[in-house]
Amino acid sequence: MHLVTARRLGLLLLLSTAYATGSMPHYRFLSGRDDGPGQRLLEERQKKTDRPYYAANTIDMPIDHFPDSRRYEPHARGTFKQYYYFDASYYQAGGPVILYLAGETDGRNRFPVMRSGIVQILANATGGLGVILENRYYGRSWPVAASTTDALAYLTNEQTVADVAFFARHAVFPGLNASLHAPNTPWILYGGSLAGAQTAFAVKTHGDVLYGGIAASAPIQAKLEYPEW
Ligand SMILES: *[C@@H]1O[C@H](CO)[C@@H](O)[C@H](O)[C@H]1NC(C)=O
Ligand SMILES: *[C@@H]1O[C@H](CO)[C@@H](O)[C@H](O)[C@H]1NC(C)=O
Repeated sequence: MHLVTARRLGLLLLLSTAYATGSMPHYRFLSGRDDGPGQRLLEERQKKTDRPYYAANTIDMPIDHFPDSRRYEPHARGTFKQYYYFDASYYQAGGPVILYLAGETDGRNRFPVMRSGIVQILANATGGLGVILENRYYGRSWPVAASTTDALAYLTNEQTVADVAFFARHAVFPGLNASLHAPNTPWILYGGSLAGAQTAFAVKTHGDVLYGGIAASAPIQAKLEYPEW
């Protein structure tokens, strides 16, 4: 039943991607970030609104998923804390995971999609678990303590897509007495714009892990310079 529903949401998009290249000197890698005053203000504000505040969870994510690729030399060992949030309100045993890729913003800015937007709608329709995954180098999911061009060497769609597959295989959801790892549990992605393209890349690259996805407004052409914008 759930599988049939999930299949209807299946994605059939064939896209190609261009990967950034780069190498970097040694940086101090962060194992986590202190929550500054901005974070506390955000939490206060969220408590005052009717928006539910979803608890922060982190997964230890490899900084470099491609230790054999020359693109990422010199390679970074180790992991960083990647943030995610989930809502089990609609979850029923056997249901899928609905994974929203947060794209180019703090993952907490996506809470409305889990409260009353596309994640809530899909979770309710499928008995699914709603999840938001923050993109590396956004919000609090920073692998390096710098933002120079060299420090951004690991900010590529290729690494992001690998994050998604790793997350689907290893994510745990505190308080939920169930193992929801892919591919045993169907994982269905949703992303818009940049994250829409990442959704399509992820499903195409890791079709053995990810069940499907919805790529909303996904860019299908890479272009250098874009004055029309
Ligand atoms: C969940 O879906 C059912 C069936 O479509 C609908 O009646 C209900 O209003 C939905 N609940 C929420 C909270 O969206
Ligand atoms: C968790 O699930 C297992 C197997 O499904 C069950 O045996 C166990 O009692 C459950 N634990 C709790 C705390 O519900």
